[in-house]
Amino acid sequence: MLVTNKELMDAAQAGGYAVGAFNINNMEFIQGITEAAEELKSPAILAVSEGAIKYAGFENIVEMVKSAAREKKIQISLHLDHGKDMEIIKRCIHHGFTSVMIDGSHLPFEENVAVTGEVVELARPGGISVEGELGRLAGIEDHVSVSEQDAIFTDPEEASQFVEKTGVDSLAIAIGTSHGAFKFKGEAKLAQERLSKIAARVSVPLVLHGASGVSPEHVALANEFGASLKNAKGIPDDAIREAISRGICKVNIDTDMRIAFTAFIRKYFTENPEVFDPRKYLGAGRKAIGEVVRFKMKLFGSAGKAA
Ligand code: G3H
Ligand code: 13P
Ligand code: ZN
Repeated sequence: MLVTNKELMDAAQAGGYAVGAFNINNMEFIQGITEAAEELKSPAILAVSEGAIKYAGFENIVEMVKSAAREKKIQISLHLDHGKDMEIIKRCIHHGFTSVMIDGSHLPFEENVAVTGEVVELARPGGISVEGELGRLAGIEDHVSVSEQDAIFTDPEEASQFVEKTGVDSLAIAIGTSHGAFKFKGEAKLAQERLSKIAARVSVPLVLHGASGVSPEHVALANEFGASLKNAKGIPDDAIREAISRGICKVNIDTDMRIAFTAFIRKYFTENPEVFDPRKYLGAGRKAIGEVVRFKMKLFGSAGKAA
C-alpha cells in the first residue's frame, strides 16, 4: 500500500531504525526494490528525481509505483527527491506522490526557509509529507578546517530554527556525505557529534543523503568487465549504523544500485556474447538491485518493520 514518508519515518524514529530511500528510473529498479522489501517485510521509500521524471515520464513512474504498491503487502512511499522546480513539485503534490523534498540547500538561509515554507503550505491540504534540506553535501577532507566545516555542514541551532519556521516533516542534513561514487579522497569519516547535536535540538526525523557504501567488490567487478571507476569510495557500514543510532531515520541510496546494476549487466554481456534478449541482461541487473537493497534493509534495521 502507498503511505507517506512521515508515517514511515515517525515509526522509524520511534523504533530506532531507518527506512531506505532508493532511487528509481525504470521498471527493473522498482521491481528489484519492492521484491526485496516484500521478502524482508520492510517498508521502502521509492525516490524519484526530477531527472528520473524526465527520463521515464511522470505518468509511467506514478502508475508503475502505484501498481507495485497495490501488489506488495508492505508500505511503500512515492517520494520526489531533490525537488527544485516548483511546477514539478506541484504536479507531484497533486498527482500521486505521497511525499516531496524541496531542496533549497543552495540558497541563503532565509530564502531556503521561504521556499520550503511555501512547499509545506502547498502539501498540507493533501497530507503530503515534506522534506527540507539545510547544509551543503561535501566530504570531510583532511585539509578542511573546523571553521570551514562550520560553513558547509548543518548548524544545530539553524536546523532548529529552520524546522520551526518551515514546518517540514523531516530534515536532510550535511555531516560529510556527498552524492556519487567518489565521496572521500582520504579517510572516510562523518561529523557524528554534530549529528547528535542536531538531533538533540530538532524533533522531526533526520535524513542522510549521499549514503552509498560504494562496495569495493562491486566496483572491482564493474572494472573487471570493462568499467573505469578509479578511486571510488563511499560511507562505511559502521558509520551508517552509528548515524542511525544518533538519529538518522531515512537513508538515501542511489549510487550503490547503479554500480551493482552496471557491474552485473557488464558481466552478463561478457559472459553471454550471443544473447540479445534484454530480459536476460536486465534481469541480471534487477537481481543485483534486489541483493543490494536486501543488504541495506538489514543494515538500516528496517527488515521486519513493515506494518
Ligand atoms: O541525489 C540524486 C540522486 O542520486 C538522483 O540523481 O538527478 O541523476 O537522477 P539524478
Ligand atoms: P548516493 O549517491 O550516495 O547513493 O546518494 C543518493 C542520494 O542522496 C539521493 O538523494
Ligand atoms: Zn540526495
